[in-house]
Amino acid sequence: DATNSSPRPDGFIPVGTIQELDKKGSIFNSQLPALIIHNSKNSPDISAFNPTCPHAGCIVKWKANKEEFICPCHGSQFRADGQLMKGPAHQGLKAYLTKVEANIILVKT
Ligand code: FES
Repeated sequence: DATNSSPRPDGFIPVGTIQELDKKGSIFNSQLPALIIHNSKNSPDISAFNPTCPHAGCIVKWKANKEEFICPCHGSQFRADGQLMKGPAHQGLKAYLTKVEANIILVKT
């Protein structure tokens, strides 16, 4: 079950399927928390981040059309690779390791 977020022996946690990511454009897992995105600029094209804004802890949103993350609280912006573009945050988003096995997306926090 892809929605059961318990870690595997290798520490990777299933967060959803490729089909789900294709359909929704991003997957938010509030438990980890993790925000998984598809993007054309990074390689591999699936990336996962801790979506907690380093400024004051709001959850950033992925804007697929602009390929950037935006924080709804005070407007910090981050690139598709998590790097800080615009404050008030002082640092970027933490990236998680990702891998795909049999259409299941796995992340390691
Ligand atoms: Fe994100 Fe302030 S909490 S910009």
